[in-house]
Amino acid sequence: MKRITIAIDGFSSCGKSTMAKDLAREIGYVYIDTGAMYRTVALYALRQGLIVDGQIDEAALRSQMDRIGITFRLNEETGRPDTFLNGNCVEGEIRSMEVSRHVSRVAALGFVREAMVEQQRRMGQEKGVVLDGRDIGTVVFPDAEMKVFVTASAAIRAQRRFDELTAKGETCDYDEILRNVEERDRIDTTREIAPLRQAPDAVVLDNSHMTIEGQKEWLMRLYQQRAAE
Ligand code: DC
Repeated sequence: MKRITIAIDGFSSCGKSTMAKDLAREIGYVYIDTGAMYRTVALYALRQGLIVDGQIDEAALRSQMDRIGITFRLNEETGRPDTFLNGNCVEGEIRSMEVSRHVSRVAALGFVREAMVEQQRRMGQEKGVVLDGRDIGTVVFPDAEMKVFVTASAAIRAQRRFDELTAKGETCDYDEILRNVEERDRIDTTREIAPLRQAPDAVVLDNSHMTIEGQKEWLMRLYQQRAAE
């Protein structure tokens, strides 16, 4: 079977990364979590005090982009890659509500997107990769052989996110999470540069009422078809 590029785009918190990671592991592909990259930039900006009252100091962030080194390293325990910022693991921190609150605005900045897209193209140039994000099938790899657009209702996505954070011991409020999910959908779909949009040749997967196992089988079938073409 030929090695292909797999683009998995869709709304936030609809399980894209879980399914992308599992698929990559199963077929021996490299997994690239592009949302984690934008989250890492947001974390960097927060740590440097470049976001005050929701306002991003764009000039300062732009001038510091080359100080943000993002890498992934496989975690032997989880079998999944962890995200590193300048050599330090930030996998836990980038998933916090604090980062979630600001990441969409950071990801809407043109110079941030340019830098991330360039890195993503470099990481994926050899094929044999699964990338998940918002603009993979439309902007980063418009020629990807397999494109999936994942969606689920906002209420279901908020509940999943709530369960995930609660399981990690974070105290959180369902209504706040739902508002955050809806706000991110709004920003992600209406931003000027590379808005979240279904590529015309993407296959839609609405997983509102699907089990993880069901999704896995669905994805695997599609992969086998596309890699055999
Ligand atoms: O998938 P996620 O929730 O971890 O993504 C975090 C944010 O980054 C989300 O608000 C959308 C943005 N993002 C993006 O603009 N482009 C991507 N390719 C991936 C994520």
